[in-house]
Amino acid sequence: MSNIASPSPIRTIPEGRIYATPADVCSALAHEWMLLAQEAIAARGAFHVALSGGTTPRQLYERLAAPDYAFRLEWNRTFIYFGDERAVWPDDEQSNYRMASEALLSRVSVPPAQVFRINAERADLKKVAMDYSRLLAMTLPLAPNGMPQFDLLLLGMGDDGHVASLFPGTEALAEPRKLALPVYVQRLDSWRVSLTFNVINHARHVILLACGKAKAAMVRRALREPPGAEPLPVQRVKPVGSALEWRLDKDAAALLK
Ligand code: 6PG
Repeated sequence: MSNIASPSPIRTIPEGRIYATPADVCSALAHEWMLLAQEAIAARGAFHVALSGGTTPRQLYERLAAPDYAFRLEWNRTFIYFGDERAVWPDDEQSNYRMASEALLSRVSVPPAQVFRINAERADLKKVAMDYSRLLAMTLPLAPNGMPQFDLLLLGMGDDGHVASLFPGTEALAEPRKLALPVYVQRLDSWRVSLTFNVINHARHVILLACGKAKAAMVRRALREPPGAEPLPVQRVKPVGSALEWRLDKDAAALLK
């Protein structure tokens, strides 16, 4: 089978790779997804991946749904989860599930029973978070310390340094044990359900995708300023046994020396 071309980075930094455009970042990341999926399926028979929400990853999901990837990836061995979800119905335009479903899940042959949505439309978000935590514990492979372990966990980053729905100043940042929590986001006056760092930092591979000028100041701060007494949420992503991999476009990396 012909190999799919993957754009080359215009620059590499110790923390990751920088590409010319968001399209190049997403094409290269689709290729990485394929390689990580092949590795996981060969080693453990399945690929467990947590999708990030927001707008940036849409282009990645659409790239994965394109025929050259869609017909090559082993969707019947792929298990899809979510890093966080807004407290909205799954057909709401704010829903991370809706975005992923439109861009990818409705366009590839992943079995619906292998897509695990966070049911954040329900009233009792504590129970939603607890149920999702139980689901993770029952369906994911376990790390040596017993923690549910994703093969790949995708993250975006807000311009305030949040990842998933772990926003600065929220109690969820310091959660010592739970795998998922409801989070009230003051600045958005909205509720979310988010995985915690306990799960994020046990994934085999954690890749952060950030594009656009609006992220440049936070990228520089996150990568070039010491964490200080209150590390940014993104600075708390420290995968056990590996490292957070940044995948940036030129604009998001513009302030990195
Ligand atoms: C969410 C995401 C969140 C997102 C960042 C960046 O539910 O909003 O999980 O962590 O990745 O907010 O979002 P953009 O890609 O839209 O800039």
